[in-house]
Amino acid sequence: GKVAVMLGGTSAERPVSLNSGAAVLAALTRQGIDAHAFDPATRNLGDLITGEFDRVFIALHGRYGEDGCMQGALELLNIPYTGSGVMASAIGMDKWRTKLLWRAAGLPTADWEILTADSDFAAVEKKLGLPIFVKPAREGSSIGMSKVAEPGTLKAAFETAVEHDALVLAEKFIDGAEFTVGILGDTALPLIRLEPAQDKAFYDFEAKYLRNDTRYHCPAGLPEAQEMALRKLALDAFRLLGGRGWGRVDVMTDRAGNPYLLEANTSPGMTDHSLVPMAARVAGMDFDTLCLKILEQTL
Ligand code: DAL
Ligand code: MG
Repeated sequence: GKVAVMLGGTSAERPVSLNSGAAVLAALTRQGIDAHAFDPATRNLGDLITGEFDRVFIALHGRYGEDGCMQGALELLNIPYTGSGVMASAIGMDKWRTKLLWRAAGLPTADWEILTADSDFAAVEKKLGLPIFVKPAREGSSIGMSKVAEPGTLKAAFETAVEHDALVLAEKFIDGAEFTVGILGDTALPLIRLEPAQDKAFYDFEAKYLRNDTRYHCPAGLPEAQEMALRKLALDAFRLLGGRGWGRVDVMTDRAGNPYLLEANTSPGMTDHSLVPMAARVAGMDFDTLCLKILEQTL
């Protein structure tokens, strides 16, 4: 039957999702699947009630696509969809509640504070120590995020973040390396180490999608035991949230090699700059096969 590839949507990550969805749609079509684009921003969800589509590939990112809302709608319509269910999607979208769960389970994640307009910003700067990462808790692709390095500038970073979400997280900076771990079914894919260009303060939106001088190392160049330990940590972290099907967990290590979980993405990017496809390729799986494997989860 027909497959709807959900793409676009109404979140701030709409442009990223349009690229992810177009790539997925092209791959499924090449593989002989009767796949069609479905943009919830321009089409009525009621169109799904007619039974036109048997299955849905969710290539949406951010709120209303990756946060459990769409997943809940599809549950009610009894249409199988790719990836995580309602609960894991909702928790994964919220970096604060994700960190609370990880910490409760004894999984490592950096110290943080929640910021509000009433926060004592100087006290938070002192408590966490500079630099500090400030992020909207329910956003993706580094939108609204900044790295605070100068004393007295935390408030300005809060004001940027709060434009994107009322819930704002200040997180202690981990000085070391950034990795991401793709998850496909029951396995973690090879780690990718991210190395933004020298002039970038961090792996931000520009480094993610617009520049071609971000370096991706896969294999990541870690000793086998550390590679395997980080893969296991990512898989445990994903499962703890109730994640299913596929996803991606981001993690930092400090200079001593200790890991700190950053966040989980339950509907990761599938653009030509994206990381899960890159790791899958290193594991011997081309993009078309990856898309088919994800779609198979709906059967
Ligand atoms: N939020 C973006 C799409 C990602 O995690 O790849
Ligand atoms: Mg994310």
